Amino acid sequence: MTISDQQKKILTILADGEFHSGSVLADTLGVSRSAVWKQLHSLAELGLEPIAVSGKGYRLERPIEFLSSEKIISVLIDNVRSSVSDLQIHDRLDSTNTYLINLAKSAARSGTVCLAEFQSAGKGRRGRFWVSPFGSNIYLSLLWRFHNGPSAISGLSLVVGVSVIRALASLDVPGIGLKWPNDIYWQGHKLGGILIEVTGEAHGPCTAVIGIGFNVYMPDREAIMIDQAWIDLTQIVKGMFISRNRLVGTLLNELLPMLADFEVNGLAPFIDEWRSYDCLKGLPVIIYHGDSAITGSAGGVDNNGLFRLMTSDGKACCFASGEVSFSKD
Ligand code: BTN
Repeated sequence: MTISDQQKKILTILADGEFHSGSVLADTLGVSRSAVWKQLHSLAELGLEPIAVSGKGYRLERPIEFLSSEKIISVLIDNVRSSVSDLQIHDRLDSTNTYLINLAKSAARSGTVCLAEFQSAGKGRRGRFWVSPFGSNIYLSLLWRFHNGPSAISGLSLVVGVSVIRALASLDVPGIGLKWPNDIYWQGHKLGGILIEVTGEAHGPCTAVIGIGFNVYMPDREAIMIDQAWIDLTQIVKGMFISRNRLVGTLLNELLPMLADFEVNGLAPFIDEWRSYDCLKGLPVIIYHGDSAITGSAGGVDNNGLFRLMTSDGKACCFASGEVSFSKD
């Protein structure tokens, strides 16, 4: 499903964040004013609600910098540019992960990157919906083919988390933490998440679709659908403009070389760095694992990236999967 030509045209005009009168919009689009009004209302399905002020016209809540493959490629360092085999930008997809999983069934190559301006069915972990309004945040998936089976890539999500922190640090956004296994956090609020979907034989080659969702600017109206404490980058950097294209390019510059290293050397080169970003360590937590909820204190991760829970009787239990929440105890 794509966005309509008229929606694209109207968005291209409104992207500057300035007011545009109904009559100028109508003339530019070659349609009646009531058709313009209809188009403006139809933007609500993309999570956008233009502001109308009589005598001035319509404007978006804030300007949109459209995703651009030229701009992203211009940020890439040489060896990363050659590792990106395809860079696709879509106005609208159900989910960038689902799209790449389907593409992976044909001959799509390792290093295929897919971005969308809007996801109608963005996927979070544990079957949650990932709120994905148009032109606001980053919804990125990367297809990567590994020579070894899924068990050999069990620490992958930790490596991806480290790449996100490195990218943000190089853009002067400090203070970001990781919450096992793959949440990106800032002062107790979720800034982004990672969803890795793997297909392949137990001991043969496998294909990972690495999905990264990252809040750059989350409109309040959309945020009411988020069921946990959240934050976006715009609030962290106090309203300063953040180029999504630069952010994507910087992230790929960090992530792709790390994946190549991970394939050869595993988690070992990254585990201490991951530990330095661990925002749960020492805190009282609850881990939800299958049907059970176990309380204890977070004891960091072991060398394989498993979560260690210290229980009240002094034992350490390791978990390969599960959902960890901050506990109020
Ligand atoms: C989480 O629940 O924390 C994981 C969120 C992952 C969201 C991203 S957005 C890009 C990619 N496409 C999806 O449908 N999901 C991931």
